[in-house]
Amino acid sequence: MKILVTGGAGFIGSHTVVELLDSGYEVVIIDNFSNSSPKVLDSIKEITNKDFKFYEGDVCDKQLLNKIFDENDINSVIHFAGFKAVGESVKKPLMYYRNNIDSTLSLLEVMGEHNVKKLVFSSSATVYGKPKELPIKEDASLSTTNPYGSTKLMIEGILKDLYISDNSWSIAVLRYFNPIGAHPTGLIGENPKDIPNNLMPYIVKVANKELKELSVFGNDYDTHDGTGVRDYIHVVDLSRGHIKAIEKVNKDTGINYYNLGTGTGYSVLDIVETFKRVNNIDVPYKIVDRRPGDIDACFADPTKALNELGFKATHTLDEMCKDAYNYVLKNK
Ligand code: WQD
Repeated sequence: MKILVTGGAGFIGSHTVVELLDSGYEVVIIDNFSNSSPKVLDSIKEITNKDFKFYEGDVCDKQLLNKIFDENDINSVIHFAGFKAVGESVKKPLMYYRNNIDSTLSLLEVMGEHNVKKLVFSSSATVYGKPKELPIKEDASLSTTNPYGSTKLMIEGILKDLYISDNSWSIAVLRYFNPIGAHPTGLIGENPKDIPNNLMPYIVKVANKELKELSVFGNDYDTHDGTGVRDYIHVVDLSRGHIKAIEKVNKDTGINYYNLGTGTGYSVLDIVETFKRVNNIDVPYKIVDRRPGDIDACFADPTKALNELGFKATHTLDEMCKDAYNYVLKNK
């Protein structure tokens, strides 16, 4: 069974390609390397000892997409490709709407023209906005506070309308919480090109002495230690959730939404102290003002993914912190 993975050279995309290949699927990747590097493709081959087809290019390019579907008997698609930096989206909203929406519309049109109607979509817990109750269930109210999150919510709406117009589609919308860590081989991981927005890649760069100290964005939140609480999930667990979703879209038609999280929330200081302990390294930090738009706490109710996909995250926070740093040590 051949799976097209858009953005397959990216952080979550590359880990998912590894799991797909290890599970016996054939894979085709399209990626424009806007937030990844060609080296990742070699690392995927080294980890899995398997090959796959690769097309360099943009998912907005319908001519390229048609070429891919003409040349490959694609069964299903996992759509990761898209810009995902919240702060950047506030500064450059049109770039985010153009890229994330346009690429998805192009992909869906070409899929339909080739009668390929099985899709796993990479969404985000950011569509829940500031949750009214915790843990968050899939039927919680949806709202967004930044253009990046709005593109995800808009695409979820496009997918819902597409299914209503043609119920032969089979769509799994996966809402990620906070993916961190790296493949245990240390050959692939999270390697943002500039100063990281997210917590774990920033901690890793401080530990590696590339950055001076971590700024903890506020310690006056309504949480056990005052710092922000999130549901961190190991990227390998998250990737395995996509295999379950591919199985689901190949079993039934319909559109279904799933939270991919652990159900456990950890604070910023929980992460810092765990990272220091498991890696036996210092991570200097200072408490600063809150980051605008941040919320106190956010963690998933993972029950639906367990009941309907048979998905459950298994990696511990210790493993997430160890694997995140191991990736840097292996790629110095
Ligand atoms: C986590 C916690 C910060 C950096 C974002 C996107 C979401 C998804 C994941 C794409 C918060 C604190 C962070 C730092 C800090 N991305 N923090 N110092 O904001 O939960 O989610 O990334 O899908 O869509 O919204 O993740 O890692 O930025 O922050 O104190 O230098 O760490 O305040 O409490 P977030 P994050």
